[in-house]
Amino acid sequence: MILLTGGAGFIGLHTAAVLVGAGHQVVLFDNFSNSKPLGVKRLESITGRAVPCVEGDVRSSQDMDRLFDQYPVSAVIHFAGLKAVGEGETQPLRYYDNNVTGSLVLLAAMQRAEVRRIIFSSSATIYGNSDSNPIPETAALQPANVYGRTKLMVEDILRDLHVAAPGWSIALLRYFNPVGAHPGGLIGEDPSGIPNNLMPFVTQVAVGRLAELQVFGGDYPTPDGSGVRDYIHVMDLAEGHRAALDWALRDPQEILAANLGTGQGCSVLELVRAFEKASGQAIPYRIVARRAGDVAACWSDPSLAAARLGWNATRSLEDMCRDAWNWQRNNPQGFA
Ligand code: NAD
Ligand code: UFG
Repeated sequence: MILLTGGAGFIGLHTAAVLVGAGHQVVLFDNFSNSKPLGVKRLESITGRAVPCVEGDVRSSQDMDRLFDQYPVSAVIHFAGLKAVGEGETQPLRYYDNNVTGSLVLLAAMQRAEVRRIIFSSSATIYGNSDSNPIPETAALQPANVYGRTKLMVEDILRDLHVAAPGWSIALLRYFNPVGAHPGGLIGEDPSGIPNNLMPFVTQVAVGRLAELQVFGGDYPTPDGSGVRDYIHVMDLAEGHRAALDWALRDPQEILAANLGTGQGCSVLELVRAFEKASGQAIPYRIVARRAGDVAACWSDPSLAAARLGWNATRSLEDMCRDAWNWQRNNPQGFA
């Protein structure tokens, strides 16, 4: 059985759908601090079978021990974490506690339960203001915000653990910018409050929840002046987890850091145009000042994941926009 901590969240639900579809048995574990039980019900209608979901907190040794007692877990995918960059700056203790302490408590419980395979949700944000693109895994790790430092700390903890316990198999998956939704439109991204991220902001403008998009910066040294990112369809990302899980279940007894991205940069204005085309909706926007802490451009070199995990992203920007729109149009208020 595969344990997905934070499994009721955006990436967790999509990964669970792919894993169940591939014949894996999964158990989700979530404290619902940023997700809703309805997401799990929707997952069950996609998979056509019951998906166990345990409510609990990764920072609780008791919750974790109980879970490992109850379920025969062979590998863990550790999604549980807080992810809002701005919030991390104003609530650093909460972010370190949730993301770093939570990971430590989980790892200690795994050690007690003798579960030695883990796939960790890391982030491209640990590369910080990288000098050049595309970014390979060997680039300097220099996160520029609290959130990124929590991710790098957990990577460091896992590297130290692997030195002391080389029998573990550990994948550090560094996601670029996950967007889109399951093509059926039953699950998708449901941020609470005003979205921080570009795609959910755009879809909420399209559905009339927000009036206009603010494009943060039109004077970057990029082809059209707006920021460039590597958007990856969440279903591709989910399949990347499936590939990493297959790798871990072969017991390579190795620690592997891999970028999950498309290798393609896309600007904010390009994404807006692609979304307008895919949805038929006009997205009113205004170019405003840069957002503090943003880099001009960031895209991946995804070749290591292809070579080591046999995975690469196949879905286009058009697919990402169509599926994001399909989700938002069918669920204007998300899971509410
Ligand atoms: P999400 O917020 O939708 O999912 C995270 C889930 O973890 C939520 O359901 C939340 O309720 C749960 N959770 C949080 N703290 C918990 C705790 N202490 N105990 C139990 N459950 C807890 O976010 P997501 O987009 O699905 O991201 C999943 C992971 O991937 C996170 O670790 C995030 O940092 C990382 N990541 C996300 C992105 C992105 O842009 N979405 C990019 C890079 C990395
Ligand atoms: N942007 C806007 N307007 C908005 C929101 C975003 O113009 O309302 C721009 C940003 O300035 C940036 C691009 O859209 O140029 C993407 O911004 P996002 O906030 O969607 O994504 P980021 O690249 O800033 O960060 C995201 C996640 C991080 C993760 C990182 C990985 O928020 O958690 O991707 O690369 F670590």
